[in-house]
This record gives sequence, C-alpha cells and structure tokens, in this order.
Amino acid sequence: MRLVSTPVGQPLSGTVSVPGDKSISHRAVILASLAKGTSRISGWLDAEDTQATLNACEALGARSQWSDDQGMAILSITGTDGRMSEPGQPLDLGNSGTGVRLLLGAVAGQPIKVTFTGDASLSQRPMGRIVTPLQQMGAGFSSTGDDTADSTIRLPLQSLGPLGGQKLQAIDYRLPVASAQVQAAVLLAGLQATDAVSVRQPGVCRDHSERMLKLFGADIHRQDAELLTIRPGGLSATQVTVPGDFSSAAFLMQAALLVPESSVMLSGVGVNPTRTGLLDVIDRMGAEVTVKASQTPPHAEPIAGLHCRHSLLAGIRVPEQLVSNCIDEFPMIMALAAGSQSTTRIRGAAELRVKESDRIAVMAAALQQLGVEVTEYPDGADVTGGAVNGGEVDAHGDHRIAMSLAVLGLIARQPVVISNAQPIATSYPNFVADLNSLGAQLQWQT
Ligand code: S3P
Repeated sequence: MRLVSTPVGQPLSGTVSVPGDKSISHRAVILASLAKGTSRISGWLDAEDTQATLNACEALGARSQWSDDQGMAILSITGTDGRMSEPGQPLDLGNSGTGVRLLLGAVAGQPIKVTFTGDASLSQRPMGRIVTPLQQMGAGFSSTGDDTADSTIRLPLQSLGPLGGQKLQAIDYRLPVASAQVQAAVLLAGLQATDAVSVRQPGVCRDHSERMLKLFGADIHRQDAELLTIRPGGLSATQVTVPGDFSSAAFLMQAALLVPESSVMLSGVGVNPTRTGLLDVIDRMGAEVTVKASQTPPHAEPIAGLHCRHSLLAGIRVPEQLVSNCIDEFPMIMALAAGSQSTTRIRGAAELRVKESDRIAVMAAALQQLGVEVTEYPDGADVTGGAVNGGEVDAHGDHRIAMSLAVLGLIARQPVVISNAQPIATSYPNFVADLNSLGAQLQWQT
C-alpha cells in the first residue's frame, strides 16, 4: 500500500493522546508471562509488533484476556510462574526485533526447544549480539549462521535451553554496543541463572527493563551508570501502566515544528530521560517544545504533555553522546533537518544501518529523491535543509521512515507518495487518523 501525503495549506492544531509505548508494552507482556499470578496492563499498545509478542507468549503458556475498566482497556496476563511450555510451532515475531530478542533471553534458561522466525526485514537483522552472551551462560542454539559474529547469526534461530540439562551460569557481561535489547535479554536470562548476573553498558540504554523488573519484584540493583546486577528468582504479577510512546509522539512533534503557525498538544507521553535525547537535539535546532511534566510515583515511568509549536529550525552537529538516547528518532531528525535552514551533521550512528531497514541509506535515498542534499557516511549523514519537492519515495517497509516522510510531505511543493508504508501498523496503527485530526490530509492508496 502507498501513503499519499498532500501539502497542507493551514496550520496544524489540536490535542492527540499518542498510543502506548512499544518498548514498555513488549516488556509488560513478557515479564507478566514469566510471573506467578495475573498481571493487569493498562495503556498497552495494540499494534502488529506487540501482538506478535503476545501471540508468542501465549504459545509459551501464558494466558491473556481483555476487559474494560470504566472505559479503559485492560490486558490481563496469567503467567507461567517461570515454567514456559514448548510451543508446537515456530514462533513468528513478524517485524519485531524487540519481541524476538527479549524472548530469546526469556526462554534461554527454559528446558524447551523454541524456534523463532520473522519477516524478511527481521530475518536480515543481526542476532549474534544476543546469542553470544546467552551461549556464554550455557544456553544452546541452532542456527544457519557459521559463527557467533553478530551479523552472521540470523533468524530462523532455535533456542535449545541450557546445555547438558544444567542451569544457566552467572556472567559479567560488557555490552559491545549500547543496546537495551541485549541488556534486557541478558537480564531475563539472569532470572534463571545459578548466581548474580552483571551487565555493563558502554552508553545510555533505555532503562525500561530495570524499572519493570523492579515492579515485578526482581532482585535487581544499579551499582552505577554502567553496571547493573540481577539475582536469580521468580517474578510476581503486578499492575503496569504503559505511558504514551515518545517515539510515536516524535512524528506529530515533527509535523507541528515544520508546518507554519502550528500549535499541537501531545498528552500522556512517556518522558523517561533515557529516551528523550530528541528533546535536547531539537532544542539545539531552535524548536519550541514545552514539557509539562505530571506527578508520577517513584520508579514509575514519568509522563508529560508536550506542547509543540512551529519553529524556524537551524542545522546542528548532533552530539555523539546523545545518539543512543534518541536512536529511533533519526529518520525523524533527518526529515526535520531537510525542513531546516542549514546543514545537520550526524555521526557515531552506525547502528542505524541494522534497524528495520538501513536507515541511513534508505532515508538518504528518499530525501535525495525529494531534492534534498544528503551526503552519506558509514556512521551517519549530512542533511542540508531547503525546499522539498514532491515525488515517489520508498519506505522499504520501515515504519519510522514511512512516518517521517509522510510528515515531510506536509511541507513539500507537491504530494509525496510513499510506497511500502504499511508497516506503520507495527507501531502506530492510528498514525494517519491522528495526523489528519490535526488538519493534515493523508490518504492510503491501494
Ligand atoms: C528497543 C531498543 C532499541 C530500539 C528499539 C527498541 C527496546 O534497540 O532501537 O526500537 O525496546 O529495547 P537496540 O537495543 O538495538 O538499541
């Protein structure tokens, strides 16, 4: 399906409550599935990626049920009390890197065989980064990759459980990249190890796993900014409130910043400081975004309203230390840079090449197609702002690229037609309706 984004002739205005956070929704279902008892999750993101994780957890023995509590949808999950069952079929995680990587950690200590598959994009993504630490803990895997190099181990991948009928061994693991997915996989495996497991991170990783493991009663301690330690033990069912997804809010923010005279309020957005590097980046570009923080209980995920107004943006050099703190926002940052008044330089972001698509190459090609000057580097790009033409671009099945380009179309000279945009449904099924409710006119075309 193609998404047609027509230039808007009016300011965008209104309030949108963005959908639940994808990272937190995956974690809520997986931890609830490992826990003893029934957990209640409100604000859960009902989208293709999170549904794939929920289906996988059910195949591993968890049970789920939807109910309504005074107009609020509640997802209840009855967990397996740490004893998952062997699924009769391969688990298809679709497009979801987070789903498959976290589940690989969750099942590594279980004496069951589980085969994981995914769509064409997920089947190209590196899995060695997950398999390596789990193998060091004594977990077995069978894959078509010929060694443990990150890029050669791919799906389909079979988890064989602890080798030799033993339990997983303790480990002190230094993450080679600041990856929250790898960190979470090792922590989840650590719940089932013989002794404490430590994970050291080279930079900021989103800390949702740490917060939620505490909520489910895990014995987890942060020693310092780098070092996190978890002791083996069971989880207990609890209540989880999923905040709005900051990474989905980013596209509506982009729209408000780019379309002249716009003023948009985004409500209930998760503003966990390990996720909001984008606010720092756009502040440096001159964006007018006001954060109206809400009171949140200690350890809960912080939420805020974000008031976003049209702003004249200048290009910047994105500080490399902010990269891991806004890793999912680079398609949006590149599109924002295209609508700015000078050059934005991005470096130290080679991880973008192994996301749902090669986000540096795909964004560079699409922006060039729209007449924007882009120079690609192995670990980033320079994007020079100016007039944006209309035309046909290819999102290569990457949800965040499709949404960034759709928003850029609002300020283009002619409509922007985006092919392979349907995976928007993996993270933000209501994106078109939400943007149109602010005054845009996006349309799907078959
Ligand atoms: C995620 C971590 C990030 C991010 C992804 C979600 C998570 O990936 O890009 O969209 O929920 O843990 P990495 O761990 O590969 O950095």
